[in-house]
Amino acid sequence: MCGISGIVHSENIGRNLFNSIRNLEYRGYDSCGMAMLSEGELDLRKNIGGIDEVNALEQLDKMQGSIGIAHTRWATHGSVTQENAHPHLSYKREFVIVHNGIISNYQELRERLMSQGVVFESLTDTEVFVNLLEESYAEHSDLEKSFLAALQQIEGSYSIVMLSAHDPEHLYCVKKESPLLLGLGEGCNYVGSDLNAFLEYTRQAIVLDDGEYVVLGRDDYQIRKVETGEIVKKSILHIDWDVETSKKGGYSHYMLKEIFDEPQTVRQALKIPTEQISGLAEMFREASRAYLMGVGTTFYVANISQYFFSTLADRYYPALSSDEFSVVTVESGDLVLALSQSGETYDTKTALQYAKTSGAKTAAVVNVMGSAISMMVDQVIMQGSGPEICVVSTKAALAQTFIMLRVALELGRMRDYLTQDVYQKHQQDLELFPEMVQQILNEQSGFVRNIARSTSHVEHWLFLGCGVYYPVAMESALKMKEVTYQHAEGMPAGFLKHGTLSMVEPALHSLFFVPLKEQKVLHDRTLIAMEQVKTRGGTVIGIMFQGDERALAVCDQAVQLPQMSALCAPLAQMIMAQMFAYYAALDLGRNIDKPRNLAKSVTVG
Ligand code: AGP
Repeated sequence: MCGISGIVHSENIGRNLFNSIRNLEYRGYDSCGMAMLSEGELDLRKNIGGIDEVNALEQLDKMQGSIGIAHTRWATHGSVTQENAHPHLSYKREFVIVHNGIISNYQELRERLMSQGVVFESLTDTEVFVNLLEESYAEHSDLEKSFLAALQQIEGSYSIVMLSAHDPEHLYCVKKESPLLLGLGEGCNYVGSDLNAFLEYTRQAIVLDDGEYVVLGRDDYQIRKVETGEIVKKSILHIDWDVETSKKGGYSHYMLKEIFDEPQTVRQALKIPTEQISGLAEMFREASRAYLMGVGTTFYVANISQYFFSTLADRYYPALSSDEFSVVTVESGDLVLALSQSGETYDTKTALQYAKTSGAKTAAVVNVMGSAISMMVDQVIMQGSGPEICVVSTKAALAQTFIMLRVALELGRMRDYLTQDVYQKHQQDLELFPEMVQQILNEQSGFVRNIARSTSHVEHWLFLGCGVYYPVAMESALKMKEVTYQHAEGMPAGFLKHGTLSMVEPALHSLFFVPLKEQKVLHDRTLIAMEQVKTRGGTVIGIMFQGDERALAVCDQAVQLPQMSALCAPLAQMIMAQMFAYYAALDLGRNIDKPRNLAKSVTVG
C-alpha cells in the first residue's frame, strides 16, 4: 500500500521524482507529497488528492534539487488530511521521511516523545519515527548510527527512506516486511516501493530483503544488515518489462488498455516453458494434500482452478482465501500454492509464512519480479503479464487462470487421467486461445458496451453460473463492485432458489454465465435458473455462445460469443465480464483506474 520513491542525482530531479510517484499512483491516491534538499534546506510540499490535483496546488514538478523523496498515500493510520500526508518532517525540521507499512508500537513511543516536548503535527505512526531520528542524532551526531538507533526502537513492518541536510549526498533506506527496491542508473540511483518507481529511468534493480538497510548515493550504495552491520552482496536483476507496457497508449483508461493487452498476456503465459509448468504439476502430484490460495480476485482464480484440477486431473484441491488460511492445518508433505499479481499481498504472504513454518512446500504464480512472494516460495512461476497499473486486476487474473489451466492439464497427463489424444487436443485449444481473445475483443466490445450503457443505472445485480462458471460469476461480481460501486452478488445458479429468488423483480438484474450447449449438464442447470428468474419477472442478461436459441429466448439482452473449446469458454466469459464492468463504470463516470477506497497492492493486514 502507498508508493515510495527516492532519487539521488547530480542534476535537478524535480520533474523525474514527480513522474515516478505519478507512475506509482495506483498504489495509493488519497494524498501525496515530495521533499527535496534545495540549497541546503529541506523543501517539503504535500497535500490531499491525486497526484495531478496536488501538483496543481503545490507545483511538485517544479521543485528544485538533486536529491529527494516522494510518496503517494493510501491512508491506514490517520485520516486523509494534509498533515497526515507524507513525507513527514521531524519537529526541528532536520529529517524528512517517507514510510510504508505500520509501526505497531507507535502509540507508546509517541507518548514518550510528547512527554519530552516533541510536538506532533499529524496522527501518523510515521511521524514518530522521524522524531526518533531527531532524538538519536542529538545523541550520536552521526546519521547512519542515528538511523540504526532509531530503528532499534520500532516494531512492525516498514520500508522507510530518509533524507537529511546532515548528509546532502545520500538517502538512508530500510526494509522490513514491506517492499523496497533499488534502481541503479548512470551517475544516479533510485529507490522505490516497486519497479514502476524507476522503470522509466533504469532497468537494473536490486531487491532488498527484510532487515537490510542501504546508504544510497548517486554513484555508490552500501547494503548492510540492520542487526549485525554486515555488508550484503546482492545480485542485480535486469528487468525486461517494456516501459511502453506500463503506459496508457491511446486508451482512455489503463483498465481498458489492460483488457486489450490480454491476447498478448495469454501468449506470454503460453511461452512459459513446459518444464516449469510440469515442475509445478509434479509438486501437486507428490503432495499428500494441496491447497490453492489467493485473496480477492486471486481467490476466485484459485476457485476456478479447483474445477480445472478436478475435470482435467481428477484431483480436488480446496481453494482458500489467504486471510482465512489459518483455518487449515498444514504439515510436511503438503503443498500450498499461492496466486498473487503483486507478490506483496500481506494476507497471502502471512498465509505462506504459516505454511512454510508448518513444514509444507510452497509455490506461487506471481506477476511482479523480485516481489516478496516470488522470493519466499520453493517454486515460482513468473506469469510475465507486464505491469498492471489499473487497481482492478484484469490481464493478470486472466493469465493466472490460463497458467493454472496449463498446470492442471499437465497433471492430468502425468496421472494418465487424460489420454495422449485428449491432452494434445486440449493443448491445441490453448494455443488457439490468444487469437480467440483478439477476435472476441474486436467483435464483442460494441455489444458489451451497449448492454452496459442500458443497464448502468441498475443498483443490484446477481451474477450466476454453474460449475466452473460459478467462480467466474463470483470474480465478475467483484470486478463490477470494485469499479462501478454497484452491488453485485455472485452465486451458483442452482443456489438461487434456496432463498435469493425472493428478491427477484424487474429492477433486480441477473447476469448469467451460460455454458456451451455441449456442456449439457451445466447448460441445463443454468437454463433452469434463468427460467426461474424470468418467470418471476426478473431481468435476464446472458453471456453465452452463438447458436444457443434456448438461452437467447430467455434473455432480455445477450452477448453471444463464437463457438470455442469448453476449456477456454469460462476464460472468454471472464473477459466479457471485465469489459462489462468497465463500460458500466465509464457510463457512471467512476474513477476507473483508481476506484475509491482501494489500492493496488494491499500490504497491510
Ligand atoms: C482485484 O481486482 C483486486 N484489486 C484485489 O482483489 C486483488 O486481486 C487482491 O488484493 C490480491 O492482490 P494480489 O493479486 O496482488 O495478491
